[in-house]
Amino acid sequence: MIRAQSLVKSFGSFQAVAQLNLEIRPGECFGLLGPNGAGKSTFIGMTYGAVERTSGELTVFGLDPHVQSSAIKKRLGVVTQDNALDESLTVMENMMIYGAFMGVPKTLRRQRIEELLEYMNLAHKRNATIQTLSGGMKRRLVFVRALLGQPELVILDEPTTGLDPAVRHLLWGKVKELRQAGTTIVLTTHYMHEAEVLCDRLVILNQGQIVAQGSPTELIQNHAPGFVGIFNSTDKPRLDLAVKSITTARITEDSSGVYVRVPALEELTRIYSEHSLKPLQIRPSNLEDVFLRLTGKDLAADA
Ligand SMILES: Nc1ncnc2c1ncn2[C@@H]1O[C@H](COP(=O)(O)OP(=O)(O)OP(=O)(O)O)[C@@H](O)[C@H]1O
Ligand SMILES: [Mg+2]
Repeated sequence: MIRAQSLVKSFGSFQAVAQLNLEIRPGECFGLLGPNGAGKSTFIGMTYGAVERTSGELTVFGLDPHVQSSAIKKRLGVVTQDNALDESLTVMENMMIYGAFMGVPKTLRRQRIEELLEYMNLAHKRNATIQTLSGGMKRRLVFVRALLGQPELVILDEPTTGLDPAVRHLLWGKVKELRQAGTTIVLTTHYMHEAEVLCDRLVILNQGQIVAQGSPTELIQNHAPGFVGIFNSTDKPRLDLAVKSITTARITEDSSGVYVRVPALEELTRIYSEHSLKPLQIRPSNLEDVFLRLTGKDLAADA
């Protein structure tokens, strides 16, 4: 569906996307994760010709976005990071214009817009101008816009940023529904749980390059397996001592506490019971642990 080979995007001497190779297959939900500035939106912009690539190969539906961007745009729906709505027009006007662009037959257009507005709890705003909507409402409307043309490929650049938990779950439901219907989905998000819930496969980008890829389960298994105990910061000296002889233990600290990760739950139990420590929380490791470890934000010296 999307294939990139040795793809590069430079801004001056800086490479935002650096020799990227990836393939997104039809029907999968593919996640693009990575810290701020990793190159996710730049890559997405290249897929429909909004950003011109510097070198390398890129095809979407087998087409080159550099020369066939309008043909590509008619077959995909995008939630861009900036909403790009016409602020002076109403919700309905914005959607009608876009529906026409996407070739939705005139007789169907209004009905399809109404259905999607209803789903995203925006029907009551159909005649409101964009500038009177809240941030989250605009985000929901951009999602409506992306789905209007019933595209075979949906690209979501941080679709749930700024959405309240209830709406976020609503949107997840829609994404799952789309995937079940065979739509290909590309998703970027900073919510690791969201990626875990939705993505079949994902890559973690850092400085324009892939640092890891696989299913959420594979990534956790390969990069941060086991269990995490979270402790109070004041326990740090005792924890340092406790894990000193355990080569498999990883210890990190941030403002919310000290994190100890070990492959097996029993090791964690032993650490805190033998040293009379009381964990604030114990949980299986997750994608956030993988992310922090691989993108250099993990304080552990466990390269
Ligand atoms: N038009 C531009 N001119 C110069 N530099 C740019 C331009 N667009 C992006 N960049 C730079 O390219 C890098 C990648 O930016 P990009 O927007 O792709 O990151 P991102 O992974 O989407 O980050 P975020 O999670 O913050 O959205 C950043 O360092 C950014 O400053
Ligand atoms: Mg971005």
